[in-house]
Amino acid sequence: MRKVCIQVEQRLGERLRQLLVEKELLDLEFPITKKDDLLFFPLRYEIPKSQLSKFSHISTELKIVEKELEPFNRKPPDLATALKGKLPDPLIESIPHSLDIIGEIAVVELDKTMTPYESMIGKAIMKVNSRVTTVYVKEGGITGKRRIRPLRLIAGKAQSKTIHTEYGVRLAIDVTQTYFSPRLGTEHDRVTGLIQPNEVIVDMFTGVGPFALLAANRQPVTVYAIDINKHAIKCLKKSLTLNRLTGKVIPLVGDVRNIVQERLLGVADRVIMNLPHEAFSFLDVAAKATKQHGGTIHFYGITSQTKSLEKISTEVSAQLRKQGYKTTIQRTRIVRPSAPHENQIVLDLQVVPG
Ligand SMILES: C[S@@+](CC[C@H](N)C(=O)[O-])C[C@H]1O[C@@H](n2cnc3c(N)ncnc32)[C@H](O)[C@@H]1O
Repeated sequence: MRKVCIQVEQRLGERLRQLLVEKELLDLEFPITKKDDLLFFPLRYEIPKSQLSKFSHISTELKIVEKELEPFNRKPPDLATALKGKLPDPLIESIPHSLDIIGEIAVVELDKTMTPYESMIGKAIMKVNSRVTTVYVKEGGITGKRRIRPLRLIAGKAQSKTIHTEYGVRLAIDVTQTYFSPRLGTEHDRVTGLIQPNEVIVDMFTGVGPFALLAANRQPVTVYAIDINKHAIKCLKKSLTLNRLTGKVIPLVGDVRNIVQERLLGVADRVIMNLPHEAFSFLDVAAKATKQHGGTIHFYGITSQTKSLEKISTEVSAQLRKQGYKTTIQRTRIVRPSAPHENQIVLDLQVVPG
């Protein structure tokens, strides 16, 4: 676009720049350009030539000229700034409900009132997060055995596959076909930080394999990584080609109940069971996978926010008691709020037969 600029000799440029900044005349949205030994300072608004006399102590050779300039492509600092003036103000205050960035893909939750503006919001998300090339909106909750949610493209490339890096490990993910939450990163890190060299681990509901891959990245371990979703296991197999791991990950596709029964009874020092909505119904499988002298189980559950961690610990211990195991609870933790009035929790527990 055409911009009015002051032309000055290069050697006097810094003095003029300072003065223009002081007088709030310099347009910071445009670059200062150079030709031969001349500099051109873009102005916020046109000034009459007569006003150049204000700068005559710097030079009497100053000129007002027009230049073709492109503004800087400045990244807005946040979504509210990116959308200011484009959305009605009351809506700006409530966007977005939640935003997850998985590799180059953003997944956003928007209130229904935002639907007419969703494409604009999607583009603004890409502007603020320069790595993001695709934006999906959540179309419902996480459902079904595979624990996936319906997504709809609102901006950018139609691409559901990406590579997400978590604690230095590259994870292949298909956001429309597999479960993955970047909000579990801290938990993946915490649990895999507890693992000792040479452990055998059964990751019962591995998804795309973040626990398994982080574990094998950190320690010389063997991880049986099981999932019923063939797309998730395909992603895990791809991740195995993307990372140089210290340990070994063995991806297995199928129902964990059958797989443990057929080939993994009594093998595990540690079992990770991250299927919170059905956790209780798989406790027997987890216990059977532990070694003859017992092992550690990371039990993930969903509880109402009013239920204490002690109460759920007692319930888990009682169920394991019925299966013939003594339980010691080592740690309890709220992982994150999973819905209004609901928390995802984790119990780290030690089981021994008896
Ligand atoms: C909450 S997601 C997994 C999360 C994963 N551990 C993570 O941290 O990203 C639960 C996974 O369990 C798998 N699943 C559900 N029922 C299963 C079963 N009976 N046997 C094996 N996998 C199962 C789903 O396909 C889904 O990928």
